[in-house]
Amino acid sequence: MTLLKKNKLKGNYTPPGDKSISHRIIILGSQAVGQSSISNLLESEDVLNTVSVMKQLGSNIKKKSGKYIIFGLPPGGLFTPKKKLDFGNSGTSIRLITGLISSNNIKAVLVGDKSLSSRPMKRVTEHLKRIGAIFILKKDNFLPMTINGSSNPVPLDYEILIPSAQIKSSVMLSALNTLGRVKIKEFASTRDHTERMLKTMDYDISFKEKKPHRFITMSNKRDLKPLKYKVAGDPSSAAFMIVAASLKVGSKIKVKDMLYNPTRIGFLKTLKRMGANIEIKNKRIVHNEIIADVYVNQKKELKSVTVKGNEIPMQINEIPILSIAASFAVGETIFQDLKELTVKESNRLELIYKNLKGMGVDCFIKGYDLHIIGNREIKAGGANITHNFDHRIVMSFYIANLICAKNNIIIDKSCVKTSYPGFFKDFNTLLK
Ligand code: S3P
Repeated sequence: MTLLKKNKLKGNYTPPGDKSISHRIIILGSQAVGQSSISNLLESEDVLNTVSVMKQLGSNIKKKSGKYIIFGLPPGGLFTPKKKLDFGNSGTSIRLITGLISSNNIKAVLVGDKSLSSRPMKRVTEHLKRIGAIFILKKDNFLPMTINGSSNPVPLDYEILIPSAQIKSSVMLSALNTLGRVKIKEFASTRDHTERMLKTMDYDISFKEKKPHRFITMSNKRDLKPLKYKVAGDPSSAAFMIVAASLKVGSKIKVKDMLYNPTRIGFLKTLKRMGANIEIKNKRIVHNEIIADVYVNQKKELKSVTVKGNEIPMQINEIPILSIAASFAVGETIFQDLKELTVKESNRLELIYKNLKGMGVDCFIKGYDLHIIGNREIKAGGANITHNFDHRIVMSFYIANLICAKNNIIIDKSCVKTSYPGFFKDFNTLLK
């Protein structure tokens, strides 16, 4: 019997700061005229890459008494960086900052690690080149990328055909230095933190939804107001503990101060449909975002569900950990249309399938749909986990040990620092 198999999860838990919001507050704080002060910023490798790149582009960012203090420059004020901008593993940093640079009259060279260098960039550059920015990429799609920002960015209408907050936000950030009105049609299912934050900063932005679409209108008539901002807890990090507590008999946890934005909590809906006992309390609005406390009180066995393609963007980062829940849920769970999962930090669809198989779970892929035939049996485990240094794959298959007879073998877990440096410590504190 493994050590983990004996335990349940108990106690209070505060997840680390939200990664998506941490990136955005650093980038947008850098565009506000005046001083912003940020607390509870996620200090993960991805976010620290955003901080480092924004400094190289001229932002004055300092850490003082645990807070990040930013002295912003108005849109259009970016400096030409002295050296290549290294984004490490971070897709969000590079997609968003590419948009920002594209409407500044500067030249920059952008690079990243092996994983980021194999991820598509054309999805943003195809939109941004319409304003007059020039991009040079390997095979027109991959890093390294040279950008010659536009000296006279023109206001345009955009239609984004991939449901992606990164693409939408990239275009929105390019609009900050575009004179005139910019209109964007995209999918309502993508996370809307950029819109909410710009509104909080008093920017001239409006958005409305007519499902499945969201329509955004922006115009740079007003400066961005600096903020005193506290970053809410990351639901994508909390998801590991919430799934673990939903699986382990007798578990009872309280997740405090978690971001409860409707575009981020698809996984909670899925878990509830599977029969997890999850209650939401103390909902409140802070900085135009909903925050809540989440109570998980494990009571019954999980059952299978079908998650439709249009629900995937609202739980895109949680599919790896939900696949572990599905393995222990009675019946066939289907996650439909996971195409976007193939272009994340790794090909997550392939790695989830391979590793589930390795630990003895019955599953298959059909097109881009993932089928998992779950049951209440403890899985064999002992799989050699292939993670390609993808943080969410490592954390998911570590949690999977809870339902395995033998622990999975995960060599080099250091990549968890990408999004959640305190993952092992937080998990061990909850294990009783
Ligand atoms: C993010 C958007 C998502 C998500 C990523 C963070 C963001 O990517 O997977 O981890 O902060 O905008 P896509 O919008 O490209 O799906």
